[in-house]
Amino acid sequence: MTVEHIATPHPDTESFSRRIRSFIRREGRLTVAQTRALNELMPRFGLAAQGPGLDPAEIFGRMAPLTLEIGFGNGESLLDMAQAAPEQDFIGIEVHRPGVGHLLLGIEQRGLTNIRVLNDDAVPFIQQRIGSGQLDRLLLYFPDPWHKARHHKRRIVQPEFATLIAERLKPEGMWHLATDWANYAEHMRAVLDAHPDFTAEHQGTGEAGRPAWRPETKFERRGIRLGHQVFDLIYQRTLDQPQSPS
Ligand SMILES: C[S@@+](CC[C@H](N)C(=O)[O-])C[C@H]1O[C@@H](n2cnc3c(N)ncnc32)[C@H](O)[C@@H]1O
Repeated sequence: MTVEHIATPHPDTESFSRRIRSFIRREGRLTVAQTRALNELMPRFGLAAQGPGLDPAEIFGRMAPLTLEIGFGNGESLLDMAQAAPEQDFIGIEVHRPGVGHLLLGIEQRGLTNIRVLNDDAVPFIQQRIGSGQLDRLLLYFPDPWHKARHHKRRIVQPEFATLIAERLKPEGMWHLATDWANYAEHMRAVLDAHPDFTAEHQGTGEAGRPAWRPETKFERRGIRLGHQVFDLIYQRTLDQPQSPS
């Protein structure tokens, strides 16, 4: 297994940094335990933002179905999913350091070996380090909704992003999205229903619409307390079209 938590500069960084970001970096307060976890556990479980294409067999010491979660927040739901599926591997990405510290503490406390973590922007990482057809599942649970119309361009779900995800998913790979913001659910559907590489598999609302493998998340509980309805959307990457005989 490799150690690769130290980011190194990369020539492409400048072009990535001009992209509109889906987040605002907030430093937030780290607890003593989170600081210790970041210092001591990132060398074991951390991934570097930049570098060559990832080799999951090297990183996890085996080949297993691979799930990537973008924006895991405090990581509790990622920990539950990884604990419930020890035969699968998970990469979690989150820009918020206290959340990464919280996840690392959970990995240690639960003795999990099937999670690796990136503390950085998911988009350039996926562009640079995830290979074509490498992912079985992409999870995007309660992404920042960017309520105001003038901020909608910051929403991570956009046609170009969908094209990137389609390329990194295996044929028939799954993209599972959830949101408690009806207008964002509409936007997600508009983008993915129009995209040639995705087919809608499941659309559900509320407790009954949530697939069994998705634990309730922290933001979801907050949304429910505020009276929001929760939407689960699952899309499958469309199979490649067979080549017509020449
Ligand atoms: C509204 S929170 C939801 C957190 C968690 N999924 C939950 O449901 O509790 C969205 C999270 O996505 C993270 N995020 C947004 N854009 C990101 C990106 N491009 N790369 C990594 N994390 C991102 C934010 O830092 C934030 O913690």
